[in-house]
Amino acid sequence: MSEPQTVYLADYRPYPFDLGEVALTFRLAPSATRVISRFTLTPKGPAEDLVLFGDHLQLIRATLNGNPVTARPEGGVLRIPAADLPEGPLTWEAEVEIDPAANTALEGLYMSNGMYCTQCEAEGFRRITYYPDRPDVMTTFRVRIESDLPVLLSNGNQVASGPGFAEWHDPWPKPAYLFALVAGDLRARPGQFTTLSGRDVALNIWVRPGDEDRCDWALTSLKASTKWDEEVYGREYDLDIFNIVAVDDFNMGAMENKGLNIFNSRAVLARPDTATDADFQRIEAIIAHEYFHNWTGNRITCRDWFQLCLKEGLTVFRDQQFTADLRGAAVKRIEDALTLRDRQFREDSGPLAHPVRPSSFVEINNFYTATVYEKGAELIGMLKRLVGDEGYRKALDLYFTRHDGQACTIEDWLKVFEEATGRDLSQFARWYSQAGTPRVEVTEDWDDSGTFTLTLRQSQPETPDGVTKLPLHIPVVVGLLNPNGDEVLPSVTLELTQAEQSFRFDNLTSRPVASVLRDFSAPVILSHAQSDATRAFLLAHDTDPFNRWEAGRTLARAVLARLITEGTPPGADWLEAMAALLRDDSLDPAFRALCLRLPGEDDMAATLADSGHVPDPDRIHRARRQLQTSLAQHLAPQIPALMTAMTPQGPYSPDPVSAGQRSLKNTLLALQSRLDGGRAAQAAFAAADNMTDLTAALAYLIEAGTAGGALKTFEARYRDDRLVLDKWFMAQVVYASPETAAQVADALTAHPKFDLKNPNRFRAVFGVLSANHAGFHRADGTGYRLLADWLLRLDALNPQTAARMSTAFETWRRYDADRQALIRQELTRLQQAPNLSRDLGEMVTRMLG
Ligand code: ARG
Ligand code: ZN
Repeated sequence: MSEPQTVYLADYRPYPFDLGEVALTFRLAPSATRVISRFTLTPKGPAEDLVLFGDHLQLIRATLNGNPVTARPEGGVLRIPAADLPEGPLTWEAEVEIDPAANTALEGLYMSNGMYCTQCEAEGFRRITYYPDRPDVMTTFRVRIESDLPVLLSNGNQVASGPGFAEWHDPWPKPAYLFALVAGDLRARPGQFTTLSGRDVALNIWVRPGDEDRCDWALTSLKASTKWDEEVYGREYDLDIFNIVAVDDFNMGAMENKGLNIFNSRAVLARPDTATDADFQRIEAIIAHEYFHNWTGNRITCRDWFQLCLKEGLTVFRDQQFTADLRGAAVKRIEDALTLRDRQFREDSGPLAHPVRPSSFVEINNFYTATVYEKGAELIGMLKRLVGDEGYRKALDLYFTRHDGQACTIEDWLKVFEEATGRDLSQFARWYSQAGTPRVEVTEDWDDSGTFTLTLRQSQPETPDGVTKLPLHIPVVVGLLNPNGDEVLPSVTLELTQAEQSFRFDNLTSRPVASVLRDFSAPVILSHAQSDATRAFLLAHDTDPFNRWEAGRTLARAVLARLITEGTPPGADWLEAMAALLRDDSLDPAFRALCLRLPGEDDMAATLADSGHVPDPDRIHRARRQLQTSLAQHLAPQIPALMTAMTPQGPYSPDPVSAGQRSLKNTLLALQSRLDGGRAAQAAFAAADNMTDLTAALAYLIEAGTAGGALKTFEARYRDDRLVLDKWFMAQVVYASPETAAQVADALTAHPKFDLKNPNRFRAVFGVLSANHAGFHRADGTGYRLLADWLLRLDALNPQTAARMSTAFETWRRYDADRQALIRQELTRLQQAPNLSRDLGEMVTRMLG
């Protein structure tokens, strides 16, 4: 086997040909699909080699201007030397045979429960036919599908159909990664909307027979998305039809193919009795995300895959804004910060750290990461903060008019901001190339003449790429409060551009309390030495909801860290602060629930490692449980009445108010279960009339070790409901005691419904194994071994998902020498395995560093 090649951003060169319209004919057959392609290539300049990519293809015939092509593909590339090319425009025609039924990688054209579907991002189109499969090659597509299946779909508009065939034409030029085809026995949930300028658009959610009654929410969310993008960004939809298809076997969440979005069924299907509040919110956000890609991704795409954040960071930012508008900005900001810290800070502090715009890769699918997506979105948020709302809107308008129809770079993106607002963003641009989470250290100075000075110092960690770090341009939002809780300085944005900078606030009558990094205005780690009393004050009085929550979070982390490292129990002041917060009916229940939730075990392991301790997973686990119990005991008198008050009346509705109430109610139920051994959870399980309450009760019963009956009931009820059964698999692994987690996961692989080929099911066991922090990190190494065994098995079928799940190991250097040795052994075993995929190979090599 040839060594995997590394691709470098610095090597980018434009494709030397312009493509004319592509004509594709698909003769569908499960193991022998024929794909006939035809397109013209016009040289842009002096003669250069013609390069087409192809992977897992059986070449039946190929001609250039009618003459047989003699060149043979090598290592996924078909290269025809410039000297062998006829002059002038070229017409390429080819026929290949592919085997969708054997395609377990779920890239290119594959089969899922009898239906044909595609996933072409990033480089899946080359598994369909020979093609210049790169995002900067854009053209229109005409597609003919031949099959007896009743529903035959592709991008754009249907232009002809008859018995056994359908033809589609997409008038919008697009790169091949946005191509899609679906064929199957599908049912549509139809809908309609009219754009601002009066275009009628037919909507369809396509599902397998039997799932028709799980489409309402997706349709509602889609309509909300189209309206929001018109109102907030002035962006209209541009075809007469918009199709969404639900597919059971899918590597990621969803895909924004032009006019034909393909979704993992778990990211579309929902009914109150099958989906949780979190599912409803996630579906709403993913539907929006893929819809928003029509402008930020499809109309304007990426020049090359290094620019992935150009579309993903921006589109995540847009879906975050959408959710904030629909469901409340404060809670959404807290949720986003939690995700960023759990996933992106974690990635950024270990061997897989990479910049938001990486400069090299072996397998691009390994870079669909929290850094590219979530940190990428944070960079957009910072830009918006620096240029203001109006500047942002002006810049975006310019981006859309100037670059419509183009494949762009981060430089193009920053340039529209500079031109629209007159700001110099050359220093800001460093955010795109410098990996690692920056630190901002705050010191305060008070002088009795009434001047308060904040000194901010920034620093950045070393990262595996060895890049030299220069100071970043960091927006730090600050507010000042009086000791009585009144705001003396409403939020202002300080621009930190130097390694160290001081900011003065004059004419104050008394020493203020500083609230720094409000709204989490930059993705940094803040170190601000504040006393517990000051944090408690901010938890009670900060006018910025994010920092109010943050003060409580920091306090809880400190309380928990002291319990872990010194065995110091929580003080009465902390417990009383939590009780006061819970009693405060002026606060949104969802916000209170967030404040009540203790930092997770992985978060604590990171916190301890960061402060020079070697985290002990068992101690962390025990201490966290102990703190939950103390909290539960202290809050006990309040719990029953509040749980009743937080039970929404009437039929289930996933609206933010009811969801927030359920969230608080179930957080209290978790505490209650710490005191009554699961009795209240047992009753809640029996009484649940929606999936949110049912799975919450199940989780607490598993934690209490009294879930036997509930698990049986759940399994019997949902045996044939694949999405709900995933929850059953997942809960048993996540909430198992540390001693049994690996055993439970192992046993679940013998369950008749365990299916290695279905990414959702695999994820439900092995994607969540490390979420059971103490279980995964058992000192005997059983968790590590089990995961490595199964990653190897999966890798032979689906390298992309195997590589993704391997990130469970990315934090390995945090732990003690024995655990490190055990993990190193597993990573080395993987690395040396014969036929390891390029995907998993790259991940393991990077993690071993
Ligand atoms: N563009 C898709 C989204 O973010 C993700 C598809 C990624 N797929 C992959 N195989 N890398 O909506
Ligand atoms: Zn996306």
